Amino acid sequence: MELPVPVADHGLLDRRAFLTGAIHVAGLVAVGSHAGDLVATAQAAESMTLETPPWMQGPGQPFRGYGQPAKYEEEVKRTFFQPYKDIAPGSGASMTPLHQLQGTITPNGLHFERHHSGVPDIDPAQHALLIHGLVRRPLHFSVEALLRYPTISRICFVECSGNSFFNVAAEPPQKSCGAIHGLVSCSEWTGVSLAVVLEEAGVDPQGKWLVAEGADAAAMNRSIPLVKALDDAMIALYQNGERLRPEQGYPMRLLLPGWEGNTSIKWLRRLTITEGPVYSREETSKYTDLMPDGKARQFTFPMAVKSVITHPSAGMRMQGKGLYEVSGLAWSGAGRVTKVEVSADGGKSWAEAALQAPILPLALTRFRLPWNWDGSPVLLQSRATDEKGNVQTTREQWTAQYSAGNVYHYNAMQTWSVSPAGEIKNVYL
Ligand code: CO
Repeated sequence: MELPVPVADHGLLDRRAFLTGAIHVAGLVAVGSHAGDLVATAQAAESMTLETPPWMQGPGQPFRGYGQPAKYEEEVKRTFFQPYKDIAPGSGASMTPLHQLQGTITPNGLHFERHHSGVPDIDPAQHALLIHGLVRRPLHFSVEALLRYPTISRICFVECSGNSFFNVAAEPPQKSCGAIHGLVSCSEWTGVSLAVVLEEAGVDPQGKWLVAEGADAAAMNRSIPLVKALDDAMIALYQNGERLRPEQGYPMRLLLPGWEGNTSIKWLRRLTITEGPVYSREETSKYTDLMPDGKARQFTFPMAVKSVITHPSAGMRMQGKGLYEVSGLAWSGAGRVTKVEVSADGGKSWAEAALQAPILPLALTRFRLPWNWDGSPVLLQSRATDEKGNVQTTREQWTAQYSAGNVYHYNAMQTWSVSPAGEIKNVYL
């Protein structure tokens, strides 16, 4: 097979090669969606006969009111991080299996979770949102009342401020891509513009912040500048078309596109308009960034530009040399992703990946690049750039920005090493 000339070392090909027919897709080796699993290259049919499989020899299953994934996909699950499992099983996180998914929209059952005191069982008939503080007219919104308001929808990512913090460890953790980077997910959210309900309450001129509080046992709260609340904030009621799930804040949550996930308060029950922040636990002892001089930076809200290769990634196995598709996700809390570059030699040479349209601001963007692996050891990396010109950092650059022990806003490039035997590991560069 004639292959196009690589545009970067170790066989990275032009991003248009699949599209222009420069590569015969029959030669493609796909790294399976399941870790350690492989999808074989299409094989030439041995004969022209086609047998009738058992599932064609009788009627199939009856209808279901609510669909479930195929039973053969049972291993596609979130992984848990429960540091205080024995004393506080409801505290911790579950991570999206990014390496087992494709596209950019996260299925609702696989959206990451971060709970501080479990998932409350909230009866929507007894839940309400109170807006008070520095307003002309304090208001109470039942769920039913909010559902009657004009709605808006937007596709955006939610990323925990602590996402990828496992890579802060001295030794690279040998976990799957999702188990390292899966505190990010992307959905189409539908709800009521926060600006609309704040307008109705009438914010006093001295009101500059609001304190959002959840109805979980932790009464999670965060201070939010009013500027953001009036810009693109939403009281979300639906996720990917259906009502929010309990784990995502049923019956209503705050949604602050592009900002650290912790500020998108779930099970939203109160918005207090204030002159300034209240310096709650979640913005003092936690969710602050420890700087090299020992000071902690507070209220660092937007998530940085970032990308990760999901296929191939740690725990998967290459199936010999040949053609592969490198694919992954990129995003930025500053707007649209404009460029993703891929390196197979640890950042010495780069090839620009194709970006899948639509490229939405503050949403996950899928990138892809054809790769003809020559069987030599390689170091795969991706590097994202956003429309504000922000470029993803190396691990070394990221580490230099903070004091040791900082675990928030980790956006350094991920390096996957591929051995000649096809083994893929997490390594630091
Ligand atoms: Co922050």
